[in-house]
Amino acid sequence: MTSVHHNAVSSLASSPLRLGIAGLGTVGTGVIRLIRQHTDLLRSRTGRSIEVVAVSARNRTRDRGIDLSGLRWHDDPVALAHDADVDVVVELMGGAEGSARTLVTEALKAGKAVVTANKALVARHAQELAHLSHEHKAPLLFEAAVAGGIPAIKMVREGVAADALTRLGGILNGTSNFILTEMAETGRAFGDVLKEAQDKGYAEADPSADIDGWDAAHKLSILTAIAFRPIVFDSLAVSGMRRITTDDIHQARTLGYAIKMLGVARRLPEDRVEAWVQPCLIPARSGLAQVNGVYNALTTEGPFSGPITISGQGAGEGPTADAVMADVIDLARGHGLPLWGRVDEQAPISCEPVESLVSRFYLRITLADGVNADTALSEIRTILGNEDIAIEHGHHHTPQGTAAQLILLTKPVTLNAINRILPILEETALVNDTPLALKVEDLP
Ligand code: HSE
Repeated sequence: MTSVHHNAVSSLASSPLRLGIAGLGTVGTGVIRLIRQHTDLLRSRTGRSIEVVAVSARNRTRDRGIDLSGLRWHDDPVALAHDADVDVVVELMGGAEGSARTLVTEALKAGKAVVTANKALVARHAQELAHLSHEHKAPLLFEAAVAGGIPAIKMVREGVAADALTRLGGILNGTSNFILTEMAETGRAFGDVLKEAQDKGYAEADPSADIDGWDAAHKLSILTAIAFRPIVFDSLAVSGMRRITTDDIHQARTLGYAIKMLGVARRLPEDRVEAWVQPCLIPARSGLAQVNGVYNALTTEGPFSGPITISGQGAGEGPTADAVMADVIDLARGHGLPLWGRVDEQAPISCEPVESLVSRFYLRITLADGVNADTALSEIRTILGNEDIAIEHGHHHTPQGTAAQLILLTKPVTLNAINRILPILEETALVNDTPLALKVEDLP
């Protein structure tokens, strides 16, 4: 790795590297634990000792199971940016705005290196942060922001840096994968499994970020910026998993598919980018379908490097703390890289609209009371046919305690066509409730 930043971090080659940690939740306490358990290992890897000298968190008295005596405590996290004893600000508070944003921008302006796990901040303020980091020669590192313990950033920014990737993506949120896995394997209710994910420290402070796809979208946006080029975050197409039932998972399985929340980005001709996050049906035999629980997986494809997949725990104390420390080790070694691994600053572009993309779709249509399911299947085939939507497979069934449902797999169509047909179906006397449409993503 080439050193491009020459700030205090790299000029103090053999002196201790002093950290100030903002946020003592699951990840913050994990980082302190790791540093204490691996003191000698860290020294042997970097040639210097790595010390936590200051911390900041909302609650001074909460028992976190670690000894915080001897550390300078700042009630205002932004004070860490101006603490002369702090070489590296480690921001683990989260949130795209407020104190986290102020702390990171102030630290960069002060020329301090910043390590963060804050994907929302990096994804939503990418251009501003890249500019500040460049202008003040202050490294901003965020390995822990993407896919917890998997070295996803290092893989894309360094491992395949010489290749012009064509596609990347995978399972980028641990909480939603944990929930889908538990629903599939045990039939447990959504809310019950979510509570367990929160208790294990997987979920975001507001778990709707996990369930509705925004957390995965932040990660995809960051990976896309490194692999292809920065994108306007709000142009990403994002949909969540709230409407998926245990029964959908079982129906998909009978058709040979698993349901997974995926985030995928593709390089298109003329420097355009396709990027989306949504729950998809993927072949049950595919590699990604075997990635379960809190595990994430990231696949890249490029003309020289071919397909590469890495998998590991995407959330939780240990894996995320380890990813934070991978960045700290880089700084202790005097390594630095520009934010997206490029020396030129690129303006963000908008992603291509997903409505014109073609794929097959799974449709779950709940029938109105008293409607004969065989008749409905035949009539709905005709309605879809009139809109040029051909059906590859159709069956009906009646989940326990609910109305009869039609389960259809379409032949390849555009999302536009699906969006047009759903309200038409809903308005017929045959159908009760808005049909559910899920993309089928054919993977090896
Ligand atoms: N809430 C996130 C997840 C944490 O479940 O993946 C790691 O980014």
